[in-house]
This record gives sequence, structure tokens and C-alpha cells, in this order.
Amino acid sequence: MSTPAEKAMKAGVNVELVMDDGIVQAAFMVDKLKDAKVLPIRDDDILLCTYPKSGTHWTWEILNMIVAGKAEYTKHWQNSAWLEYRTEEELEALASPRILHTHLRPKQLPDAIWQKKCKVVHVRRNPKDCMVSSFHQASKQVWKDNPAAKPSYSGTWDDFIDMFVDGSFPGGSYFDHTREWNNISEVHEDFEICRVHYEDMKKDCVPEIRKMADYLRRPLSEKIYQEISEACSFKKLKHANEKLKDQTYHFQWQDDSSGYFRKGITGDWKNWFTVAQSERFDKAYEERMNEKFPY
Ligand code: A3P
Repeated sequence: MSTPAEKAMKAGVNVELVMDDGIVQAAFMVDKLKDAKVLPIRDDDILLCTYPKSGTHWTWEILNMIVAGKAEYTKHWQNSAWLEYRTEEELEALASPRILHTHLRPKQLPDAIWQKKCKVVHVRRNPKDCMVSSFHQASKQVWKDNPAAKPSYSGTWDDFIDMFVDGSFPGGSYFDHTREWNNISEVHEDFEICRVHYEDMKKDCVPEIRKMADYLRRPLSEKIYQEISEACSFKKLKHANEKLKDQTYHFQWQDDSSGYFRKGITGDWKNWFTVAQSERFDKAYEERMNEKFPY
């Protein structure tokens, strides 16, 4: 019988995958994950935790602006502060308070985060929109420095949904990830995290920015919240990343697009899922999460 990693490669993932602690991982990530678990953590580190494609770039910029107290873009792309990807030396070079982002599950993170009671912001997005966003990235994106010149996924959309549903998606299951983050206070008592939803940010970003600033105990004026919201609109943030920022930490794509900024809307899944696919996902969600699909 094949492992979930082998199944995903068979479905069209063009990256070497392995099973690591029961989770499908890109082979090149295994050592990085070990390093991440013991990364030195500072008392004032702020963690931005997301399942991929949930609006990490957007929220990371907002958090940086809240900490800076003004609507000024960071110099670098968010990948400069990626907890499980950057080396300890690279992360040590960041000024405090660091705003580290991660796609890891709580149990994969350094224990010091819970011991030191770091600030943790968790963003959720409709998983169907995450899937569409991921599918575009994986099936179109060819890294500039990839000699194979192949996208990381060349299978069908239907098989892509299957990988998501059956947990063979590289990096780990959406359901396990979300359940662990939902239940965090059962494992780490009295640990308070700030929960934000992509859909709420799209509807009206200011209250969500205010909520994050209050949680970080860095309240700002309503004028600054408004300025941050505008500076981080999809169009302006895309422009800032593509045209204004230092590109050192941007994973360049061969078509020269900025990649991570695609449509920036809610509900694009309706253009992609057939009724049968959507129902299949809703059923899997209900079974795995013990609740009705909330979107
Ligand atoms: P789409 O592919 O649906 O457009 P992440 O940063 O976690 O990789 O998430 C990327 C997704 O967030 C992409 O979704 C991207 O377009 C969207 N996004 C990035 N910046 C945004 C913004 N300022 N407003 C709304 N969506 C944004």
C-alpha cells in the first residue's frame, strides 16, 4: 500500500515528498522542521499562524504596521520572517519585536512560545478559497531558480481536492491544522490567541486591525487604523510588494508575476468547484471537524 506522500506524488506533485511524524512533507523541509522546533524564541516575539493561502502576507503587513505605529510598508517580503524556512541566524538578525509567520501546527512549534506566552494571531479563511489559491500557485508557479522548469503540481483539480480532503496535502491536513488551532486552549491553558478571519477583513478591515492592535496592547488612533487598512488594500499591497519592496526575500517566479497576490477576493471557489465537488468537501468537513461547514 502506498503512503499518503507517495499518493500525492502520483497525483501530480512534482516535489519529493516524505512522511514525517505522520505528516506529508516536502523532503527538503524535514531538517528545517527539526530546527524550527528548537528555534530560540524571544519574550516579545509575535507569531502569525495560518494555513497556507489564508491571507498571511496581508496580515503580516498589518501586524508590522501596528507595531511600527504607522502605515509604512516593511522593507522586505514576509518570507524574510518565515519561522520554519529561514535559518536561526537569519531570524536572529531581525529586530525585536519580531513578527514571525508560520504554517505549522501548534505541536510543531517551539515550546518556548507557550512557556513565554508570546502573542499569537491566527487567521482562518474559507478552505475552498484556500484550495483554489493553492491550486493556482502550485500549478502555475515555476520558481525562477528551478532548473526542472516544472510547476510544483501538474495533476488535475479533482485530484487536488482529493489531496486536500484525504490529508495527503504537502505540509499537512487542513482539518488537523484547523482543529489543533481551534483547540489550543485545551492543550495550553490560559493561553490567549487572537483569532481573525480573512472574510471579516475583506468585509471591513478596520475593526479587525483594531482587534489585533488591542490584543497586542498597542492601540492606535482610528485615523491610523484607517490608513493601515487602505495601505494594505489588495491593490496597494500588491503594488508595494512588486514595485516598492526590496526583492531579496521574494521567491521569484519564472513568469515574473508576484505570485502571492492573485485576486484577493472571497468566494472565487464558486468558479472552480462543481456542485458535486463542493458537496464532497462539505461532507468531509463535517465528518472531520464535527460541525457543519461554516462558510
Ligand atoms: P487568492 O489566490 O485567492 O487571490 P497567503 O499570503 O497566505 O499566501 O495568501 C495569499 C492569498 O491572499 C491570495 O489569495 C492573495 O491574493 C490574497 N491576498 C494577499 N493580499 C491581500 C489583500 N491585501 N487583500 C485581500 N487578499 C489578499
